[in-house]
Amino acid sequence: MKLFLDTANVATIKRLAASGLVDGVTTNPSLLSKETGSSESSDPKKIIAEICSLVHEVSVEVTEKTPEAVYKQAKEIAALSKNIVVKIPCHKDYVEVISRLSREGIKVNVTLIFTLAQALMMCKAGAYIISPFIGRLDDIDEEGVEVLYTIRHMINAYRFPTLVLAASIRHVRHVHKAILASADIATVPAELFEKLLEHPLTDAGIKKFDDDWKKLGIRQFP
Ligand code: E4P
Repeated sequence: MKLFLDTANVATIKRLAASGLVDGVTTNPSLLSKETGSSESSDPKKIIAEICSLVHEVSVEVTEKTPEAVYKQAKEIAALSKNIVVKIPCHKDYVEVISRLSREGIKVNVTLIFTLAQALMMCKAGAYIISPFIGRLDDIDEEGVEVLYTIRHMINAYRFPTLVLAASIRHVRHVHKAILASADIATVPAELFEKLLEHPLTDAGIKKFDDDWKKLGIRQFP
């Protein structure tokens, strides 16, 4: 399973990408708006260019509303860099646009997927990635990970080439479930990325090995 960072913070991406474990980045208008301010370096286009130089694949979402404007903007976003995947919300108004862009070879990540039916329709439209939002389903008292399992089953059964990206991930258990559901990609908030390596028993184990070793009083090893 590929691991993406769900952030538009360049410094964080740079720091965590050094681990060699970051396969890509997902952004959205909310994440980009957090990084923008008055300085020139916070221009979203510049932020995206910097992110594109740091990781293999970057999802960038359209902000236009009418289908014609979304189509045009999607083309412009895709032209910014070879490693951009254009994110478009799953909405009936955009189905034609998603199909057309996909036919034209533009990689589309269909975002805000909440049901199996939406997933099927977007696979049929030729989406490169579909992004079911796990955490937001949990927020409304639904079983977010269920959708992941059923989408995986559907994609395998009908042999769609579309990738499943587990989005809106809130905690380590969500990542475990995404792995068990054979998601192709999980995008995680930066704070969670490092937590994925942690366990209190690992820390306790390191301490115990260290304490026991010190008892030997050996100065140099080997
Ligand atoms: C990813 O592509 C989404 O933009 C993101 O995971 C949404 O997460 P949230 O529900 O925590 O905002």
